[in-house]
Amino acid sequence: MRGDARGSLIALESGHEVPFDIARIYYIFGNNPGVERGFHAHERLTQWAICVSGSCVMRVDDGATRADVLLDRPDLAIEIGWLTWREMHDFSPDAVLLVLASERYDIDDYIIDYEQFLEKSRT
Ligand code: TYD
Repeated sequence: MRGDARGSLIALESGHEVPFDIARIYYIFGNNPGVERGFHAHERLTQWAICVSGSCVMRVDDGATRADVLLDRPDLAIEIGWLTWREMHDFSPDAVLLVLASERYDIDDYIIDYEQFLEKSRT
């Protein structure tokens, strides 16, 4: 964090703070009340998710263990690796969820069936 008397600043660089080359950035905001997102895993994708405004709950599941992580600070990132089922819940109205991704968008990398995810996570 590079804060000074004016306020806060966070800089993220590939190969420095972020342990992968950033191929893509996207952000999720303006969700309708009660919306839940995600519900998939990826074969080969690493992501960092940061709620830079507001809050949400990131549910991560590696096939054996499930955890709900509250993302409610702009200086808190969760790393989501390969073969991790993720769900996003409880978005606050002002939530802006920033995601840094190691790969470009590839629909073929998505696993959207939970049973299929469980099978892959066991192999
Ligand atoms: P989706 O992966 O379903 O979002 P979430 O996991 O948050 O529910 O993506 C929603 C839409 O946006 C879908 O049509 C695919 C598109 N999309 C892209 O074009 N590029 C991207 O990098 C992402 C993440 C999604």
